[in-house]
Amino acid sequence: MTKINDQFLEKLLENINLAKAGLNGVDYVAEYWYPPKISHKITFVVPGCISLLWVAAFPSRKLSMQFRKKDLLGIKQLEPEEIQFILETAETFKEISTRPIKKVPTLRGRTVVHLFYEPSTRTRTSFEIAAKRLSADTFNISASTSSIVKGETLLDTARNLEAMNPDVIVLRHSAAGAPHLLAKHVQASVINAGDGMHEHPTQALLDLLTIRDKRGTISGQTVAIIGDIAHSRVARSNILALTKMGARVLVAGPATMIPLHLETMGVEVFYRPEDVIGEADVIMMLRIQRERQGEMLLPSLREYSSVFGLDERKLSDAKPDVLIMHPGPINRGVEISPSVADGPYSVILDQVNNGVAIRMALLYLLIGGERDA
Ligand code: MLT
Repeated sequence: MTKINDQFLEKLLENINLAKAGLNGVDYVAEYWYPPKISHKITFVVPGCISLLWVAAFPSRKLSMQFRKKDLLGIKQLEPEEIQFILETAETFKEISTRPIKKVPTLRGRTVVHLFYEPSTRTRTSFEIAAKRLSADTFNISASTSSIVKGETLLDTARNLEAMNPDVIVLRHSAAGAPHLLAKHVQASVINAGDGMHEHPTQALLDLLTIRDKRGTISGQTVAIIGDIAHSRVARSNILALTKMGARVLVAGPATMIPLHLETMGVEVFYRPEDVIGEADVIMMLRIQRERQGEMLLPSLREYSSVFGLDERKLSDAKPDVLIMHPGPINRGVEISPSVADGPYSVILDQVNNGVAIRMALLYLLIGGERDA
């Protein structure tokens, strides 16, 4: 099996020309897909052998850096250049999802386990589609249908999984820090798919990709995050990611749902949506995390909706080209009205679409290439 790199590609293309000219009998079977794009699939016959060649086009934009991390635990651990690199890589993977046959052999023979201790539709499906598009084998373990209900600890479950040699474990857990703990104990790469109220890094990355796609840049954009900031891992990861990438971040929500000293994360804090809506290039609405609230922090959902929910009336103060985002699941009529969620400024489905590209990029960067640690 030959690993493809620029040098190998040059040699390969040289040999194709020789083979076409009938001058030699090369037999290459390229097992690796070299990013960013496969542009031709060429089958050709030379005396004595038949080779199926996946020939990668040279990148239209050179990806100059290498991603050398074992795990993706949070945005906190990423440098702005690494975030940029993930976004660039994701961009190159988007095209695969538009093909009639949406599959490349990049991760053939690799195993990705999705270990979900909390409910999820979008994130788990998105990871699974991403892994399958890269030809990895995938296994889903959810808390309700596994030995976890019999009391097995996270580490015991992980050690047992590890004995089956997975390459990646994608973990969603209600405890903050669970993926960090897991990553210390397993050889497999660990991806954090949401840990309690802590981080949801892949959501923030797909949000960045969506903003960059629509605006061409993240730096200099004013992003307003509205709602239950205190209990939202999406808000935390986005605040880290957006500030690292040079955006101005405004947050607004009920005082009971804004953590103390949030300003130290580099954001401006407000308590009324009206104070941020007119300023924002992007408005990110959050779901009320009722499952994480120990006590009732709101008089009523109806009141919350009328004060903090984004509807046509509040939106009339927004910039004419504002983008409306929401990580889902949406509580229609609570934090966002149906007409705004489905309206012309909404990029909510673009976010979902970009989720697959981001997760493909991360799987590729973590286990598709070489790494130091
Ligand atoms: C999450 O898992 O954090 C979601 O994507 C956002 C939410 O649940 O509100």
